[in-house]
Amino acid sequence: MELGLKAAMNQVAEDVDRAFDRLLAIPADPRRSLYEAMRHAAIGGGKRLRPLLVRASADLFKVDPACSLRVGLAIECVHVYSLIHDDMPCMDDDDMRRGRPTVHRAFDEATAVLAGDSLHALAFEVLAEPETHADPFIRAELVSELARASGPAGMAGGQMMDLVAETETFDLPTVTKLQQLKTGALISFCLEAGAILGHVPPEGRRPLRGYARDIGLAFQIADDLLDVEGQEELTGKAVGKDANAGKATFVSLLGIDRARSQARMLVDQAIGHLASFGAEADLLRAIARYVVERDR
Ligand code: IPE
Ligand code: IPE
Ligand code: MG
Ligand code: MG
Ligand code: MG
Repeated sequence: MELGLKAAMNQVAEDVDRAFDRLLAIPADPRRSLYEAMRHAAIGGGKRLRPLLVRASADLFKVDPACSLRVGLAIECVHVYSLIHDDMPCMDDDDMRRGRPTVHRAFDEATAVLAGDSLHALAFEVLAEPETHADPFIRAELVSELARASGPAGMAGGQMMDLVAETETFDLPTVTKLQQLKTGALISFCLEAGAILGHVPPEGRRPLRGYARDIGLAFQIADDLLDVEGQEELTGKAVGKDANAGKATFVSLLGIDRARSQARMLVDQAIGHLASFGAEADLLRAIARYVVERDR
């Protein structure tokens, strides 16, 4: 991994861990195990790619890093909630996540549902607080964009398509749509959020939107490749699950080699969208390369 990227990732991971630690102080009452379950899922272990993308995007427009960290925390709340529910027996039925037992394994299913619900709600609470941005119109735009990216027209809708992909045959355009919703929508929010925080009008967001669409797809193709070729000690989660479930993915439709070359093509295209930026977009370029080269 490129040195600058490694340093930025470590910094963001540290910042996010510290912010979660503060946000999720354990109360001295019967809600204790709910908070413990949220901490179990949220603190430590993840790549924190989404908060890193928010920071890298916001840095282009010289946004206060305290603001981009809060938005990164919010998107990571939604992401972690989606992982808790994704791992439950009614969905992917997984026992390991980020190198430790999944929440419903370490606690129980009811606690896992509530920990996910709570992180989902906390995301919007964090965005709506004045510390996220002084301008209430900016906060409202962040809230509505994250809501759209998380719901039936975004992540949750993609998760529904993903469940259907176990029993129905999907063609390539349908799998592309599935991936764009399931994974792409939250990743697109990260780039959009940097522009929103930086007061960039929608017509100025075109390059970042193109970049986001391409790395979002490349990211999910890499996830599907890791499910086939990855090592559990590195990914921290079970492998071989998609084929076992008979799930349509880019890899099942194209095969390993074509899926990988498609992901690489998307990364080149993503970097191409950044042509109007100078060295200030180098972190975004490095992230794009990392998205397909990663082993976890
Ligand atoms: C895994 O996301 C779920 C997908 C959307 C593919 P990540 O690969 O970002 O997981 P963490 O956050 O690093 O654990
Ligand atoms: C999960 O996709 C995506 C979301 C949680 C929205 P996967 O089911 O492929 O993710 P992993 O492989 O379990 O991390
Ligand atoms: Mg899944
Ligand atoms: Mg899963
Ligand atoms: Mg997967």
